[in-house]
Amino acid sequence: MKKSTPDEIRERFDKDVDRFSNLETGQKATIDATLQMDLVTSSAYYVNKNAKKILDIGCGAGNYTVKLLQKISTLDCTLLDLSLPMLKQAEKRVKELTSGQVRTIQGDIREIDVGQEKYDIVISAAVLHHLREPTEWKSVFEKIYDSLVPGGSFWVFDLVSQEDDQIQKMNMDRYGNYLTSEGGKSYKDHVFDYIEKEDTPRSITFQLELMKDVGFRKIDILHKNSVFGSFGAIK
Ligand SMILES: C[S@@+](CC[C@H](N)C(=O)[O-])C[C@H]1O[C@@H](n2cnc3c(N)ncnc32)[C@H](O)[C@@H]1O
Repeated sequence: MKKSTPDEIRERFDKDVDRFSNLETGQKATIDATLQMDLVTSSAYYVNKNAKKILDIGCGAGNYTVKLLQKISTLDCTLLDLSLPMLKQAEKRVKELTSGQVRTIQGDIREIDVGQEKYDIVISAAVLHHLREPTEWKSVFEKIYDSLVPGGSFWVFDLVSQEDDQIQKMNMDRYGNYLTSEGGKSYKDHVFDYIEKEDTPRSITFQLELMKDVGFRKIDILHKNSVFGSFGAIK
């Protein structure tokens, strides 16, 4: 199947701001959404307690930055997303919580120059599974590594795949059962259809190896349940 283009992905998210604006539930179509949000933002906080600048890639309506600001309320926040309605909502929510500067960038992480040694923390939640070829993954991970100060950290929550096809099938079956219990078969079919059309997830092992390859000093796993995981790396 031909996968969605960045424009098609942007158009879908333009219409979906409310679904990504709830801190109490996080993204309901994912597993352990609030736990993953807590682990990612707590890890960023524990590793970079004196952080001054954060970059949130594919910030959506800003949930992850909002959650991190509950721990460090002085951050300069750079919010990057394909979707303008998402960015506007994120900007509004984040401005209410930080005493630092808030900057928004509309664009595709594959194309945007995010600078060199600027950020203490980079977060990317439920975004990287839109990357396609291994070369794209590599250039985005290099870009993120370059954008961090030494000692800075990069944290990911995402839909992930498995190296082995049978384990992949087991985890998709488990995820299907979860979605069915949440919203019935039609909800499960709806979510599986857009994953098929839109997403190209890679395994945690692939991403951790890539983090090492591009230069990160330490890699770590925070959580994994079915097809969702949280992990990160320190420069
Ligand atoms: C599933 S939402 C997650 C939003 C937010 N990170 C959260 O966890 O609540 C994915 C977001 O990533 C954005 N996005 C997808 N591909 C992107 C890309 N290549 N560059 C920048 N943003 C992207 C979408 O517009 C959307 O707002």
